[in-house]
Amino acid sequence: MTIIATENGPFEVTGACCVKDASGETLKEGEKVYLCRCGHSAKKPFCDGSHKREGFVG
Ligand code: FES
Repeated sequence: MTIIATENGPFEVTGACCVKDASGETLKEGEKVYLCRCGHSAKKPFCDGSHKREGFVG
């Protein structure tokens, strides 16, 4: 698994991964997942593109 902080955007997770919530319920399984790191996504923990509208720099 590889995790890359994209320029001014989400964490890109590549490789077999499983994202679970605090109770252990699986939210998503896949080979590529984008996780919000700007704090503005309405679909946390996943990126919904809001970082562009908010002008996130990171
Ligand atoms: S990084 Fe994309 S919505 Fe937060």
